[in-house]
Amino acid sequence: MKDVDLEVHHRVEDTGALRTDVREGLTAPAKWLPSKWFYDARGSELFDRITDLPEYYPTRAEREILGRAAGWIASTTGARALVELGSGSSEKTRPLLDALTGHGTLETFVPMDVSESALAEAAAAITEDYPGLAVRGVVGDFTQHLGLLPGQPPRLVVFLGGTIGNFVPAERAKFLRSVRDVLAEGEWLLLGTDLVKDPDTLVRAYDDAAGVTAEFNRNVLRVINERLGADFDPDRFRHVARWDGEREWIEMRLRATTDMLVHIPGADLEVRFAEGEEMRTEISAKFRREGVAGELAEAGFAVERWWTDTGGRFGVSLARAT
Ligand code: SAH
Ligand code: AVI
Repeated sequence: MKDVDLEVHHRVEDTGALRTDVREGLTAPAKWLPSKWFYDARGSELFDRITDLPEYYPTRAEREILGRAAGWIASTTGARALVELGSGSSEKTRPLLDALTGHGTLETFVPMDVSESALAEAAAAITEDYPGLAVRGVVGDFTQHLGLLPGQPPRLVVFLGGTIGNFVPAERAKFLRSVRDVLAEGEWLLLGTDLVKDPDTLVRAYDDAAGVTAEFNRNVLRVINERLGADFDPDRFRHVARWDGEREWIEMRLRATTDMLVHIPGADLEVRFAEGEEMRTEISAKFRREGVAGELAEAGFAVERWWTDTGGRFGVSLARAT
């Protein structure tokens, strides 16, 4: 296997950011944790298993769209660099890589992810399969390290999977603005957004029969145990997935099944949970076409084209920096 080019801005051993988040989230009156901490090696594997579940339609729907749209995206953008934020396995990105290398413009692929294991594996596979392409992986947090991304213009930044929905609205606006800030006028953003649909379908996608999403949810407790020496008993927390029809997002929570006192020495913290108390571990916002276009415009992008899958479940926008 060839050498993989990885630039590391976020290290597992660096527990400072996790410590700060845990202290903030678990001392709040309504406890919460940021969803980026799901993704250690085990969390990334569990996410990949989620993408194959019969109930979890977003990956299949977005793959269908990308297969159909990749040629048009390649000829319209003529991108020399493809930058993928929250790239995970980058499996769904391959039709784009195929179309852009086929078009003859693409020189560099820059996958960026906070999960070093997922990134290293994806970067190695793509380095192997696309011999003429420079693959420059960046291990980093896309809310902090965007200014450091390599690649020559015109660049196409892709943010797939509906991961934009894992931000609350204010963070989402800030994030889109920060992507716009690193691009020059005329460069591109391809954004995947899961769409509002009937609550049953949504809740089932986040509470699958095989319990994989429940394990993914509880993984954040294992991450805190491992990195901050905590003594969470994941089996004493129940997975909860709930649709909030007003805010149009799914909320994942962990509900304490007994009273507990949890010690988190790496954060200098002891936290009490009452039986039945819930902590929020993720939101997954669902979108409407007009809302996506409006938020993109607010951040300095104009939508050039919008696609949905044949089931109308998922939307992908190609937007140009204005
Ligand atoms: N794009 C892939 C993976 C989506 S899962 C797909 O569409 O299937 C979300 C990915 O974003 C995970 O790989 C996770 O490790 C990464 N991620 C989550 N928060 C992040 C952050 N703040 N910075 C960088 N990557 C992050
Ligand atoms: C990464 N992200 C878009 C996924 C989602 O659907 O919000 C994470 C996930 N959470 C539960 N299942 C999948």
